[in-house]
Amino acid sequence: VTVRSSNITEVAHGITAAQRTQRNGHPGGVLWLTGLSGAGKSTIAMALEQELFRRGFQVFVLDGDNVRRGLSANLGFAPEDRAENIRRIGEVAALFAESGQIVVTAFISPYRSDRDRARQALAKLLPSGVATGGFHEIYVKADLATCEGRDPKGLYQKARAGEIAEFTGISAPYEPPAEAELMIDTEKLDIAAAVALAVSYVERHFRKV
Ligand code: PPS
Repeated sequence: VTVRSSNITEVAHGITAAQRTQRNGHPGGVLWLTGLSGAGKSTIAMALEQELFRRGFQVFVLDGDNVRRGLSANLGFAPEDRAENIRRIGEVAALFAESGQIVVTAFISPYRSDRDRARQALAKLLPSGVATGGFHEIYVKADLATCEGRDPKGLYQKARAGEIAEFTGISAPYEPPAEAELMIDTEKLDIAAAVALAVSYVERHFRKV
């Protein structure tokens, strides 16, 4: 996006990323969950938040349905609206990460280019070399038939009945990650196993300070 405001000057923080990392015992970073509706993103994100919090991590979840009630209340599900939704969340997640938090985001984020842009938003704020836990794309994987079978909110049924336009997997695309840092297959793993996998991943990547 082009910056539309003029006469803006960047102001430097008086506290470094290294100082925040030292105080927290780990750097900030982003765990970017992506997957179909019903794949288990929110459930995993919330359980992961609890377990990481219990272990002493600074952690916060940004979740699709919640963000769409506030930050993205003026957006729908057309491709350009999803792109703007993910752009905002990418920028917000990067700010949270800069503040020292481990941010867990739980959005379908169906387009690869939008997810890549979120990755770049963090790289811009916290370039490598600065104390950063980095950006980790986590593919919460379950195929369409499985998600549709679960249909926890009855949305697939509505989408099949033509009551929801541009529904991901039915009438709108989902582009799976080509190279996710971690894949959580929720067809094979129950919640406890899924969270254990993510926790051990975080312990490995965020505790080396
Ligand atoms: S996106 O694509 O990343 O901008 O979507 P996200 O912000 O994660 O919002 C997805 C949740 O919105 C509900 N919902 C829909 N999803 C997909 N397509 C359409 N058309 C749609 N309309 C409403 C749905 O509950 C999604 O929640 P999850 O948790 O993924 O099931």
